[in-house]
Amino acid sequence: MLISSKSKLKSGSSILFLLSKEDCEKLPVKILFNELNTLIARKDFTGKKGSLIKIPLFENQQFQNIFLAGLGEKNNLNSNLLRDTLAYAFRTIGRNHVNSVYVPTEHINCENLNFILSEAAELSAYNFDKYKSKNNDYEPFSLNEIFIDDNFSEDEIITGKKFAQAQIFSRDLANEPGCIINPQSLSEKALDLANRYNLICDVWDENKLKSENMGALLAVGSGSVNPPRLIHLTYKPKNPVKKIALVGKGITFDSGGLDIKPENYMSTMKCDKTGACDVLGIIKGAVELNLNVEIHGFLAAAENMPSGSSYRPDDIIKARNGKTIEIDNTDAEGRLVLADALSLASELNPDVIIDIATLTGACAVALGNWRAGLFVNNDKLSNDLLIASEKSGESLWRMPHEDPHIEETLKSNFADLTNCGKRYGGAIFAAIFLSNFVSDNISWAHLDIAGTDFHEKEYGIYSKGASAFGVRTCLHFIMNV
Ligand code: BES
Ligand code: MG
Ligand code: ZN
Repeated sequence: MLISSKSKLKSGSSILFLLSKEDCEKLPVKILFNELNTLIARKDFTGKKGSLIKIPLFENQQFQNIFLAGLGEKNNLNSNLLRDTLAYAFRTIGRNHVNSVYVPTEHINCENLNFILSEAAELSAYNFDKYKSKNNDYEPFSLNEIFIDDNFSEDEIITGKKFAQAQIFSRDLANEPGCIINPQSLSEKALDLANRYNLICDVWDENKLKSENMGALLAVGSGSVNPPRLIHLTYKPKNPVKKIALVGKGITFDSGGLDIKPENYMSTMKCDKTGACDVLGIIKGAVELNLNVEIHGFLAAAENMPSGSSYRPDDIIKARNGKTIEIDNTDAEGRLVLADALSLASELNPDVIIDIATLTGACAVALGNWRAGLFVNNDKLSNDLLIASEKSGESLWRMPHEDPHIEETLKSNFADLTNCGKRYGGAIFAAIFLSNFVSDNISWAHLDIAGTDFHEKEYGIYSKGASAFGVRTCLHFIMNV
């Protein structure tokens, strides 16, 4: 999306007014239209949050339509509400055969307005429609240029765009079905990225995984004709201020394995690789933004399938760090592939490890579709991530990361650990299980994005399908680390 100064405004554009309730009582905007005044006088538009209307203009030389978007009460306006309102408006405008729109913003009081507008513009244009026939039914998104008031921050516009494009990269990958993305093709995507940006990428195949004692990742991948991969992508600027490891759950399809999922729980499980896709997007973003942090991405990629070669309930497997795990349920596979990847990441002794995973249905039950679970072993990292999440609008909710009773329940009769605890508190069980594979001295956060990774409906900056939740939060975090 092109964002330029209003001095370049073309005739035939539309105009989008973002108005709060207070604005509707006393119009703050300089360009006034009779149509707009009448409409507001009649109270057809009151600035209510989420309201959006279109007024076609028939005798105006410059503008084709006015769009009005309500911001609600002025005092309640914040960057997240503004981002969602803009995205909703741009998406609607783009489906109304409009190519360009002018957005007056001088009356809007919001920090980093240009950054937010740029993110919203980019994300609102995203749709996973590459497999749809482009026939008569197909309505392309027509909006491609946005004009804004002069003396805007070009820097903010560019940064916002890079944040959004990083997330779009991850969404595109996460949205691909299991017949396209398997552990091997995922590793090829990582290698492509490495080639394009001059990064180091190391891929471990099943033989290497064996010699490297990645017993948990191998077990999860054993039922599939598509063998597992461990992908290590490194971004190393010259004089980095910190070293961060990002670990992503990359289950390219989660059928549950022998503990197979019931049908209505299996669809959308192509998105069980979102954590891994997020890690690739974050690294892409970090390179584009020239962030001065060394980043190691570890993607634990496997396909969880039932077959004669699958791992079974009751199996006892050995993870990379030597701990043995008794399998209680093959559908609790994410924590297993992460166990090996977290052990490996710990060996690098990074300043911080963040893992991102569509880990538990329990987390989705607890927090819903709009908040991800944050499990973190220290307050400093927790605060930093919560600040980053405030900036991105991707809400996080801190969850308990310690519990002696749960630790007790994770003990197995025959091995060091069982991969499954009780049903109640399932997200906490999973997080505490993971803590067994992170070295004690490392600052570590686990993001359970199971509820937030996929949307059935569009909302604000979210299109249908994968959200790639977490990418922009992690970029804010790394930017300020
Ligand atoms: N991939 C799922 C978790 C999930 C559920 C992600 C819904 C997104 C939406 C995970 O591998 C899983 O199956 N977890 C089980 C764990 C259970 C067997 C302990 C679950 O949540 O039911
Ligand atoms: Mg599962
Ligand atoms: Zn899973």
